[in-house]
Amino acid sequence: MTHVAIIMDGNGRWATARGRPREYGHRRGAESVRHVVEAAPDLGIDTLTLYAFSSDNWKRPTTEVSVLMKLFSRYLRSETPKLLNNGVRLQVVGRRDRLAPNLVRQIEASEDATRSQTRLLLRLAVDYSSRDLLLKAVRAAVAASDLERQDMSTLLGEAMHGDGSAPDVDLLIRTGGERRLSDFLLWECAYAELLFTPVMWPDYDGAHLAEALADFRSRERRFGEVAAAS
Ligand code: FPP
Repeated sequence: MTHVAIIMDGNGRWATARGRPREYGHRRGAESVRHVVEAAPDLGIDTLTLYAFSSDNWKRPTTEVSVLMKLFSRYLRSETPKLLNNGVRLQVVGRRDRLAPNLVRQIEASEDATRSQTRLLLRLAVDYSSRDLLLKAVRAAVAASDLERQDMSTLLGEAMHGDGSAPDVDLLIRTGGERRLSDFLLWECAYAELLFTPVMWPDYDGAHLAEALADFRSRERRFGEVAAAS
């Protein structure tokens, strides 16, 4: 049971370095998404969360935002049948009220079509802000008084994921050379192993993911306890 989360960074720089518009990098980035989704189940990953669009990404030029939204839509249209064939369940996490109604309908249709698949849970984070979700969770907790610690934890999970079923992140990967979390899965990454790679997202593929998993499996995770005696 391994949950891997990826901050897919470097599309823009990858394209600029090749004298191409940033949007070209995003299109190639969508190919990398296909590669890692295909590779994930055989690497023992059962949940894969990809940071596709942060709530702060709305600040980008409208043309770039619109290309990204079209890519999400195209991805859902072309990939849903493949996801279904490969046992992948799709879930989109984040706000939906600012997405185009057509895209929301597509998301719901893909989620419905893949609901019973169990080989891999693919979570795409779109208009996602971990802080916003935490604030929403706290508001829900304040509204429900006299909560036990356990109930509070369940309530936080529910407020942040809808059904409270998203497991903690085991391995967080960020491509593109930066070393920050950028408001992604702050609660779920409490004990995540972190891996930062200079590889730009459009160059990232199944082999890179396999390397990352091998690195992760070589680490000793203690969750605050002392090391096991050898
Ligand atoms: C960060 O690179 C990437 C994004 C903000 C968008 C991620 C989108 C994709 C990988 C493509 C489509 C996704 C799906 C699910 C089909 P950046 O633009 O910030 O790169 P930079 O740091 O080099 O500017």
